[in-house]
Amino acid sequence: MEKKNVGDAKERLQRLDLNSELRNRLLPFCRLRSGEIWEDELRGHRVGVLDATRHGDLDKIMGGELVALVVNDPPYNLKVGRSATDNLFKISLKDYLGFSRSWVSNIIHHLQDDAHFYVWLGADQNDGLQPFPDFIVMMREFDTLKPRSFITLRNQRGYGSQKNWMWARQELLYYTKGKPDFKVTYTDIPKVLKGYYKTVDGKRTENLERSKSDTIRPGNVWVDIQQVFYRMEENVPGCYAQKPLKAIERIIDSSSKEGDIVIDCFAHSGSTLIAGEKKNRKIFTFDLDPIFAEITIRRLERYRELKKTGWQWQNPFPEIDSDVGSS
Ligand SMILES: C[S@@+](CC[C@H](N)C(=O)[O-])C[C@H]1O[C@@H](n2cnc3c(N)ncnc32)[C@H](O)[C@@H]1O
Repeated sequence: MEKKNVGDAKERLQRLDLNSELRNRLLPFCRLRSGEIWEDELRGHRVGVLDATRHGDLDKIMGGELVALVVNDPPYNLKVGRSATDNLFKISLKDYLGFSRSWVSNIIHHLQDDAHFYVWLGADQNDGLQPFPDFIVMMREFDTLKPRSFITLRNQRGYGSQKNWMWARQELLYYTKGKPDFKVTYTDIPKVLKGYYKTVDGKRTENLERSKSDTIRPGNVWVDIQQVFYRMEENVPGCYAQKPLKAIERIIDSSSKEGDIVIDCFAHSGSTLIAGEKKNRKIFTFDLDPIFAEITIRRLERYRELKKTGWQWQNPFPEIDSDVGSS
């Protein structure tokens, strides 16, 4: 879940979950209040301040349309600090599963007959490795969603002490409803392995001759994606759980087509919206917190105006002093 262990000090806005005074200063600059939805005139994207566990909220943002791809990144129930907004930051496992059951059953009603469903999730090594395995078991209650894969994204940097293995992984679960199309994608990593021979049409061929690409497929362990940190253009100061655009673009490429509706019920920094804008998908996304919904809309506006995918270490709220809240 965590993107930044080092480097927060360089950013022009402190983590928004840690500073309630800063949050109170930002709220007046947020255009949406709880229950409201902003509709993009150009592409039809929608951004709301809604609750993923409330049926009415999902009905409201979907407006009768159906989803081809879900890319959800809920809170992981890890204790990562004092949360000012997100009182789900650490609850009992039973309550966390109740929360998960509720948002999963909520979104299922809005899926196309053939749809893809991805969930990012974590495991707390200091607390029985919850909630990752418990979530997987809970998902067996939903007959319509079949497990397809369990992807691990390997971060370059990890966290932890010298007394344990560095935690350098992010888990991504993949399920499908029906039989949706899956498009094979490739990394930029050159294919080097030689020597797998196979006879095709009576001719002995080496595996590189048979390849469809000079580069390897991502497989279910992704090692070619940098986690977001303050030197990257896509970084959004204030956000503490931002996912890399490259990962979301990969999901969108393989599991949807142009014009499809993609939903992300936990918008945060708006990564899915930016990835979808780049890939010509229609994105419906929302967050419980009006500040994250505002950041999500501003990030799209900035991308359209300047072609920049984030703020790097600069402040998304120029209305307040750029150093406000920075540590
Ligand atoms: C792990 S972050 C998502 C990160 C996002 N994928 C990104 O790349 O920026 C989880 C987000 O879920 C939001 N959230 C928590 N409970 C929610 C709920 N019931 N409905 C909608 N959003 C919620 C939090 O405010 C937080 O911004």
